[in-house]
Amino acid sequence: MQQFLTLDDLPSLSEAVNEAIELKKNPFAFKSLGNQKNLGMLFFNPSLRTRLSSQKAAQLLGLKTMIMNFSNEAWALEFEDGTQMSGLRSEHIKEAAAVVSQYCDMVGIRAFASLNSKENDENEIVLKSFIKYASIPVINMESATAHPLQALADAITIKEKNKVKRPKIVLTWAPHPKALPHAVGNSFVRMANNIDCDLVIAQPKGYELNPLIIGDNTIVYSQEEALEGADFVYAKNWCSYSDYGKILKTDDTWMITAKKMKLTNNARFMHCLPIRRNIVASDDVLDSNNSLIIEQANNRTYSAQLVLKKILENG
Ligand code: CP
Repeated sequence: MQQFLTLDDLPSLSEAVNEAIELKKNPFAFKSLGNQKNLGMLFFNPSLRTRLSSQKAAQLLGLKTMIMNFSNEAWALEFEDGTQMSGLRSEHIKEAAAVVSQYCDMVGIRAFASLNSKENDENEIVLKSFIKYASIPVINMESATAHPLQALADAITIKEKNKVKRPKIVLTWAPHPKALPHAVGNSFVRMANNIDCDLVIAQPKGYELNPLIIGDNTIVYSQEEALEGADFVYAKNWCSYSDYGKILKTDDTWMITAKKMKLTNNARFMHCLPIRRNIVASDDVLDSNNSLIIEQANNRTYSAQLVLKKILENG
């Protein structure tokens, strides 16, 4: 594998999930694969799980890591070609990406959607500029439109915990006080469309994801109706896509509660974290034995390890 920008870069999602589960059983099996190589990680946005799980995954493979918070430690980057750099941006991506490529053998980039411009976000300017000007493999550590490391960890978790032949999985929109990007929802839908399951997207009207992501997936506008018989409930907030970046609903009627979980087939609860308690889901859901949120976070290590291993094996 030469890069990891979306789940489509994996040769096979099901084989990747199986291989990651094997890595989890024997995490030091490839402890010398990354010897004398390093992974650079550039964060334009905050992180707990992605940063630490990717660092741990790298260490399990013998890789060294170099980490930089670009938002407050690096020179502000210019991405426009041909611009006269008389403003606040001190360094052009052309030099920055070329320089990073000399120091690192591969680079992970975290750069969220701005939610100011749908066009700019969909063009993935930060990620694509690094791909254009770097000469090393690029790994998506959550971009404007995708979070494939999270989706791979979620696929691992579902495979480990599923008890039925073909699970019903509900991806449900949930409330949040801030406008959040679509990356997690997008990648979750892409992932679920590549595993053996029945996916239902539950959301209030106006919160439809990008039509290219929705495809022919089922959307249900009643959360209670969607939850009936569910085996997995994945809660996530995202802002409006059609009225880009806007919050359309502010009440708590879509919060996941223990009462709502009773409508399901004793479903396991999932969320990528961080989660706002008693906003997205109530304490009694998050603290129940059916919650998988900590196990999902644990699987971020093996998701990242699988991706780094595939890139290292490519040479
Ligand atoms: N789920 C996830 O990506 O967590 P962080 O934002 O903490 O990395």
